Amino acid sequence: MKSVSSAPGKIILFGEHFIVYGGKAILCAIDRRITVESELMDNGKIEITSSVGNALLSTSDQVSSVEPSLRPIVHLAKKILAEYNSTSGIRIGIYAEFPAGVGLGSSSACCVAAASSILGLFADQTRDRVLELALEAERTVFESTSGADTTVCTLGGAIEYHRDGYAAKLDFEPNFTLIVADSQISHSTSSVVSRVRKYKDNNPAIFSLLCTQEERLIEDALEALKNGDLRVVGQRMSQNQKYLEQIGVSNDKLNVMVDLAKSTSYGAKITGAGDGGCIIALVDQSNIESTMKVLCESGHQCFGVKVDMLGLQHKLELT
Ligand code: MEV
Repeated sequence: MKSVSSAPGKIILFGEHFIVYGGKAILCAIDRRITVESELMDNGKIEITSSVGNALLSTSDQVSSVEPSLRPIVHLAKKILAEYNSTSGIRIGIYAEFPAGVGLGSSSACCVAAASSILGLFADQTRDRVLELALEAERTVFESTSGADTTVCTLGGAIEYHRDGYAAKLDFEPNFTLIVADSQISHSTSSVVSRVRKYKDNNPAIFSLLCTQEERLIEDALEALKNGDLRVVGQRMSQNQKYLEQIGVSNDKLNVMVDLAKSTSYGAKITGAGDGGCIIALVDQSNIESTMKVLCESGHQCFGVKVDMLGLQHKLELT
């Protein structure tokens, strides 16, 4: 029997970095997925194949014996096998519809899909249990995560996320597309988060003021999203970008891309940790083509994404 789960990637519309210290963020799951397939094996091994790397180890080996990007998956395999007193090995295949390390939530989607897929070999599951396991797995490599990415990859839709883990799906019909453009600069979320922490410690008054301004901006954005007012949502995104520039997570290339995208879209900003990765621009039918054109003609790879309303999906397949 094969247990197959998939989870969507994500973009952060508002609140990245600030959410690590409290307040709210607004995130959307996107219509690009990561699928994880698991099967029990009788060889006592954990075997992982994925586009970011492969691993073959014994179920008794340490999690730290594999490269960091695969550690959350090994953690999940060992934990769930032990929880169900299984002496089996396990084969895990990971298939992604979008690149890793560009701020689109690949590691979170992977943790969610893997937690669900492996758990599905042994038991019925709830989204709460999968989310709990996925968060624990993600924290093996990124201890201070706010949990926002993992939560939206589990729930799908657009969500308002609070630092204490509370999440509410926004009750609206998304009338927009997001253009995602990749800066092709790789980044590490945990090291950008550490750098922001230093900025906060060195500039407590400025950081606290920015948190307050971000909170107000998010309240406006929530109202505008519910009213379908893309002009206001876009303006708030561009304002959010200014706060992110102030805390040092944008750079010259990202600023140029954001300015280009802003010239035709409702608004643009980096998404996720920044320092590299992707920018997003808010569009609808009236400006999607012009925004794609302005970015493509300047040599930036870009594509449009819609909000995924499904979230985590799981099924069992007979082999
Ligand atoms: C990364 O996608 C989002 C950050 O806010 C970190 C986090 O929320 O855990 C930078």
